[in-house]
Amino acid sequence: MVRLKDKLAQVLAKQRQELQTILKDGGAKTVDQVTAEQIFAGARGIHSLLCDTSSVPPDKGLIVRGHPIGDLTDLLPEEIFYLLLTGERPGKAELEELRAEFQRRGKTPNYVWSVLDALPDDTHPMCMLNTALLSMQPDSVFARRYEDGMPKDQYWEATLEDALNIIARMPKIAAWIYRKRFKKGPRLDSDPNLDWAANYAHLLGCADMKGGFPKLMRLYMVLHCDHESGNVSAMTAATVNSALSDLYFSLSAGLNGLAGPLHGLANQECLTWLMETMKKHGGVPTVEQITQDAEETIAAKRVVPGYGHAVLRVADPRFTAFVKFGKEHCSDDPVFKTVLNVFEAVPKVLMQHPKIKNPWPNVDAASGSLLAHYGLKEQNYYTVLFAVSRSLGICAQAIIARGLGQPIIRPTSVTTEWLKKACS
Ligand SMILES: CC(C)(COP(=O)(O)OP(=O)(O)OC[C@H]1O[C@@H](n2cnc3c(N)ncnc32)[C@H](O)[C@@H]1OP(=O)(O)O)[C@@H](O)C(=O)NCCC(=O)NCCS
Repeated sequence: MVRLKDKLAQVLAKQRQELQTILKDGGAKTVDQVTAEQIFAGARGIHSLLCDTSSVPPDKGLIVRGHPIGDLTDLLPEEIFYLLLTGERPGKAELEELRAEFQRRGKTPNYVWSVLDALPDDTHPMCMLNTALLSMQPDSVFARRYEDGMPKDQYWEATLEDALNIIARMPKIAAWIYRKRFKKGPRLDSDPNLDWAANYAHLLGCADMKGGFPKLMRLYMVLHCDHESGNVSAMTAATVNSALSDLYFSLSAGLNGLAGPLHGLANQECLTWLMETMKKHGGVPTVEQITQDAEETIAAKRVVPGYGHAVLRVADPRFTAFVKFGKEHCSDDPVFKTVLNVFEAVPKVLMQHPKIKNPWPNVDAASGSLLAHYGLKEQNYYTVLFAVSRSLGICAQAIIARGLGQPIIRPTSVTTEWLKKACS
């Protein structure tokens, strides 16, 4: 891990220097304003967090370290992790080193399997994942070294150790959750010849590895890797991380947020919605039929899953990348065809409701149809896939925050009385 550590040490030192200069000259400058509405809406839209791994301009969608996500779809998730951390793509030697690290650290402690065995059979897969993750906290290098009096300037290195261990173990744990929860047979062994995402595909054991499934898993892991720092999971993880809780605590806290239906859980609801409408119409519904179903969903005061976004105001480029994959690999699949018809119908319906700020599809609108095509049909597992991928971004953000010596996150809350006076 020498290469990655040396590179990170350089990058962090440069950025610390840059931030010192910015804050020395402009630290007291007002850079944004806050309205009463924004306070009620959970700090919505206020520029108040520092995050360099990625950004999400409303008119463009995810940009990872300056690269639109659509330009990164051929990369391996290992390369993405390196890019998130350092701002540069790894060379061949750096990539090989990182892949070797993930393989070396992949062995999962046996007690994790026992912890999972102790949970009731109908436990939600996200609860299983977060329980497994938190159960490994006694392994935290950061916690152990902190207790031993580690100096502050080494915090990021210990966090990097935790991140590499967690990311290395994630596919095996997540795949076992799938096989155990949905009774798919015994745990499979990792294949050392495969990259991180393809090995996850192999460990799931739900599809022929000669088809497009490993490719879909790589794409899925790349597209969900990060989405700046203001979303529920990233912000929660960053807050917990800022208290110097180790990564086992902070990542599981963030992933608990991902398990919410307005955030990561929406991807399981999307396929459910698609299947319901297909069942109702006895096959691929027409654009007209979907238009009516979407109108009925809204009239019932429910949301059309996979559409709308808190930040984006265009079709999510991650949706576009999934649709491109679908057109190349499974254009005849009835569920995928339904996705395309929904895309034609739903934005027009949502545009009729001015309160809905973004009528366009988000990342979740297409992914379920592709997973189902390869036999991964258990919708309530989908957020686990999202979580495995998002761990890359959350871990990278945590390491950088430690490397920059960012302090504890502590905004100030106000009372309704305070707001009344401030607005009067
Ligand atoms: C993503 C989401 C939570 C963003 O919420 P938001 O920032 O509050 O979105 P808006 O400001 O556009 O919401 C304004 C109103 O439109 C509604 N709305 C937004 N998207 C909608 C959708 N897809 N279907 C129906 N109504 C929707 C909201 O529920 C809200 O209604 P309310 O005022 O009665 O509470 C929201 O668009 C949504 O629930 N989408 C469906 C779930 C989903 O796909 N989530 C995945 C996110 S990546």
